[in-house]
Amino acid sequence: MHLGIVNADRYPKLDMACRSNYYIFSMIRTANDLRTKYIEFFVSKGHAQISGKSLIPDNDPTVLFTTAGMHPLVPYLLGERHPAGTRLTDYQKCIRTGDIEAVGDSGHLTFFEMLGNWSLGDYFKKEAIEMSYEFLTSPRWLGLDPEALSVTCFAGDREVARDAESAEVWRSLGVPAERIYFLPRKDNWWGPAGETGPCGPDSEMFIDTGEPACGPDCRPGCSCGKYFEIWNDVFMEYNKRADGSYERLPRPNVDTGMGIERTVAMLQRKKSVYETEVFSPVIAEIERVSGARFGRDEPTDRSIRIISDHVRTASFILGDQRAVTPSNLGAGYILRRLIRRALRHGRKLGIEGKFLEKPASVVVDLYEGAYPELAAGRATIMEELALEEERFLKTLRVGEGEFEKMLPELLDDPAKTIPGRVAFRLYDTYGFPLEITQELAAEHGLSVDSAGFDEAFSRHQELSKVGSERTFKGGLADHSEMTTKLHTATHLLHKALHMTLGDHVRQMGSNITAERLRFDFTHPEKMTEGQIGRVEDIVNAEIKADLPVVMEVMTLDEARARGAYAFFDEKYGEKVKVYSIGDFSEEVCGGPHVEHTGVLGRFKITKEQSSSAGVRRIRAVLE
Ligand code: ALA
Repeated sequence: MHLGIVNADRYPKLDMACRSNYYIFSMIRTANDLRTKYIEFFVSKGHAQISGKSLIPDNDPTVLFTTAGMHPLVPYLLGERHPAGTRLTDYQKCIRTGDIEAVGDSGHLTFFEMLGNWSLGDYFKKEAIEMSYEFLTSPRWLGLDPEALSVTCFAGDREVARDAESAEVWRSLGVPAERIYFLPRKDNWWGPAGETGPCGPDSEMFIDTGEPACGPDCRPGCSCGKYFEIWNDVFMEYNKRADGSYERLPRPNVDTGMGIERTVAMLQRKKSVYETEVFSPVIAEIERVSGARFGRDEPTDRSIRIISDHVRTASFILGDQRAVTPSNLGAGYILRRLIRRALRHGRKLGIEGKFLEKPASVVVDLYEGAYPELAAGRATIMEELALEEERFLKTLRVGEGEFEKMLPELLDDPAKTIPGRVAFRLYDTYGFPLEITQELAAEHGLSVDSAGFDEAFSRHQELSKVGSERTFKGGLADHSEMTTKLHTATHLLHKALHMTLGDHVRQMGSNITAERLRFDFTHPEKMTEGQIGRVEDIVNAEIKADLPVVMEVMTLDEARARGAYAFFDEKYGEKVKVYSIGDFSEEVCGGPHVEHTGVLGRFKITKEQSSSAGVRRIRAVLE
C-alpha cells in the first residue's frame, strides 16, 4: 500500500524541541504502546498472535538463552507445520550475553524484547515490505516521517544475486533510490547456523536522526549514531547445500525482528535507551539508594547503566517460566555474573550492602502486564537476588582484601600483567570472578593474562563448562536424524520417569545434541540403581514394541483434558501440537519426531546427578 508523503499540516509536530529533523505523526511512544500496536497491526493483517516463549530455550544445545524472536520458531522455519497457521506475530524476551563486557555504554543491553511477524510459506517480499512500510509511516501506526527512512538491501556477490526485488518494492512505495543502500553479505545476509540450511538476504530499516554524517562513508549500519536501525526483514529464500551452492526454496519464509528498546528510544528522540521510560524509573531507584546522579559524569553513568541493565536481565531470568537460579554452570552462571557485576558497580557508587530488591521490583512493575510470569515470580525474584547478594558481598570482602595484599607485588611487575594463575587462585579460592579481577586491575593500570587464566581454568575440568556459551547469530538449529530420535526418546523417558518415580516428576528442561539427550526434572532425591534400570527397561520395551508416533493439532485445554503432558507457555487459547507414542505417551511438543519407535536403537542412561535443589538431571544416549 502506497501512502505517499503525509500532509504535515494535518498532524501536530510532536517533540520538535529535541534533536533531529524527523517528524512523528502519531502518539505511540512507550514500550507498552509499541508492543500492543505492533501486535494489533499484524493481527489486522491476518496474523495469529502466538505467545513468546521462555528465555531458556528447549532443545537447543548451542545457546543458553533465547537470543532472537525467531529462535523458538526455528522448527517451523525449517518446514514443520505451525498449529496457529502461516502468518504469525509475537513479542519475545531475548538475552544476548556474548558481549556482557560491552554493557555500560549507551547502547548495549543484555536483555531486550523483539517484536516479530512471520510468513511460513505465505506472503513474501512484496507484502512483507509493504506491511513494514505501512506500520512505520502510517499516522495510524508509528507515523514516522517517510523522508527520514533509509533502507538497505543485499548487494549480491559471486554466489547469490543482488536482491533487486526488495529494492524495487521500496521504490514502488516512494523510497527514492538514494536512500536504498545495497550492502554486502556481512551486513545484509541471514545465514544458517551450521554449514547448510535455509538462509537469505535481509532488508533493514533505519531512521536518519538528522545528525551530521561522520564522514563520506557514513551510511546505514555506521555506528556513529546518525542512522538508527529499527527493523529487519529476513527473506529465507535459499537452501545452502553441502557443496556450498544455493538452491531456491520452493516455499520461502519471512522472518522479521524489531527491537523494542531501540525503537522506543528513536520514537522518543532519545540518544540512548537508558533515557527512556524503560530504564528511567530503575535508574531513579539506583540514584535514590546511592545518592549518585545520572547524566553528570561518564564513570558514574556507566556504573548506573550496568546496574540497571543487569538487574533487569536478572529479574527476567529469575522470573522466567523456566527460571534458573545462580550457580556455576551455564545459564545459572551468567545470572550469577550479572548479579555480581551489578553489585560490584553498586559498591563503586558507594552502596555498601544489598540494594537490588527495589530496582528489581520496579522492573517487575513495568513489565508484569506483558509478562505475567514476572508477577507470579515476584517473591522468588526478590529472595534469590537477596541470597546471591549476601553470598557475593561476603566473597567480595574477602577477595578484595586478598587483592589489596597482593597489589604491591603486582605493581612491581614491569609487564604490568597479573599472571593467569594468580587470577585463577582468586577465582578458585575466593570465588572472585575474572572480570572483577580485570576491573580492579584496570583501576590500577594493570591487565590480566586471561589466556593464562583460561589455561588454569580448563585444568579444573569439572568447572570448564561455564565457558562454553556461544552467541546465537542467525540460522537454524540442528535437526539431524539423531537429534530427532533423541527427541522421541525424551518423551519415552519422561513417561517412564512418571511410572517409576511418581507423578510429582515435572520436566524442568531438555537439551538435545546429536550425541545425547539431557533431561531435568523435579525429584527430591538421587535415583537408585534399581530405579535407573527400571526406567531403561521401560523405554527399551516401548522401543521394541515399535509404537507409531502420531501428531494431532488441538487447543491446549483439549490437550490437558486428554492428560497430555503440557509444559509449555502457550497462552491466548492457541492451538498446539500433541505427539502420541502408541498409547504409551502423549505430550504437547513442537516436534519433530520419528514415525515409529523401532528405529531408535537401544536406550541407555549414562548419568544421573543433581541439577539444582530438588531437580535431577539425566543424560542418556541411543546405541
Ligand atoms: N531474525 C532477524 C533478527 O533477529 C529478524 O534480526
